[in-house]
Amino acid sequence: MLRLPQYYRDDKNQVTPHKSASLRKSCLTWKRLLAISLFLMLSVAFTAPKSLTSRLGFKFPLLRCGIHTPQDLGGLPTHYTLSSGSRIPSIALGVWRAPKDQTVTAVKTALDSGYRHIDGAWVYRNEEEVGQALKEGNVKREDVWLTSKLWNNFHAPEDIEPALDDSLKKLGTDYLDLYIIHWPLAIPKDEKPANYDKELTANPYPTWQKLEEMVAKGKVRNIGVSNFNIRRLQNLTANPLKIQPAVNQVEINFWFPQIEMLEYSKKTGILLEAYSPLGSAERVTESLNVQEVKEVAEELGMTPAQVLIAWHIQRGTVVLPKSVTPSRVTENIHLKKLSEEAFDKIEKAARAHKPQRGSNPSQNWGLDFDIFE
Ligand SMILES: NC(=O)c1ccc[n+]([C@@H]2O[C@H](COP(=O)([O-])OP(=O)(O)OC[C@H]3O[C@@H](n4cnc5c(N)ncnc54)[C@H](OP(=O)(O)O)[C@@H]3O)[C@@H](O)[C@H]2O)c1
Repeated sequence: MLRLPQYYRDDKNQVTPHKSASLRKSCLTWKRLLAISLFLMLSVAFTAPKSLTSRLGFKFPLLRCGIHTPQDLGGLPTHYTLSSGSRIPSIALGVWRAPKDQTVTAVKTALDSGYRHIDGAWVYRNEEEVGQALKEGNVKREDVWLTSKLWNNFHAPEDIEPALDDSLKKLGTDYLDLYIIHWPLAIPKDEKPANYDKELTANPYPTWQKLEEMVAKGKVRNIGVSNFNIRRLQNLTANPLKIQPAVNQVEINFWFPQIEMLEYSKKTGILLEAYSPLGSAERVTESLNVQEVKEVAEELGMTPAQVLIAWHIQRGTVVLPKSVTPSRVTENIHLKKLSEEAFDKIEKAARAHKPQRGSNPSQNWGLDFDIFE
């Protein structure tokens, strides 16, 4: 192959780089520069913290080092299969009482920590913030399980779709993974709880039929209930339902372990979701100081909150811990399976005292009956 000389002597007999050689040299320099910039860009995209990559304009950092993956809950089941066939993640971030100005950070921290399930509701008044976090976060919509709840004032069939559409709009999505009847209480649209609709509360079949229609329309993938006792579940399911309730979301924690409901759920296949799993804000400190919980935590090198959350999942329920404190959001999903002995110790202690329900709004709402009776 003919090779160009790299240098030649000019008319003053000085050694000068040949034009083509200097051109080749500058090309080489450019190539090197290009390679170095490419290397730097890829390094940032692959390894830099998400906050930096998004500021630099990368929508999806390719690799997030050290970030907990949703597939790893230390041997605990990461999902349950619902009667519909859908797979629901076993742990969610709850956002009740999450102030608007802390919700975006809490949800984004949750997604970065491996949560793929957010438990919200129309009445929590932070659906727009949840939607913003989902939009700005680095997880695709289809990889997140999104739950919302139908508020008491919208049980009349004609009020359901507008209420659902409002939640969808605020959340910035065109479907929910799960839509739940928040309470077994139908209040006409602009009425107070005390003026509830007795007929629709006694038999919410018309409400349920409309929810079934929402599934058929593709706006909702699964439907369920919340705060239903066994009698109300039997009452609803005695109707010719096209779709069985996928879940019943109820209070379950160390103080209120819901033994009978747990058995009923296993028998019927209506999955339980444990709300206020740490005893809610009112009793969380007390829950984390239970002697047996502290002993297991020390023995297994976990925090008391992690022990309680793992205990819930080992009981076969979805667990919905709420926190707006980023370090706690992350702590609550770094779990591992309790040994059989440790699990039994907590279960025995939870069954040893009289069940104590934390929250019952019947009186505050001025109802003439106890909503849980
Ligand atoms: N369907 C219903 O009617 C219903 C009713 C109630 C709740 N829920 C659902 O269940 C979710 C959870 O229930 P919840 O909010 O009542 O109670 P929770 O999750 O049992 O407790 C939340 C409280 O615990 C604190 N906390 C969380 N993790 C902690 C940790 N690792 N260490 C120390 N403190 C910690 C939180 O504080 P910070 O936030 O300050 O960190 C907050 O004060 C709700 O957000 C909602 O999604 C549903």
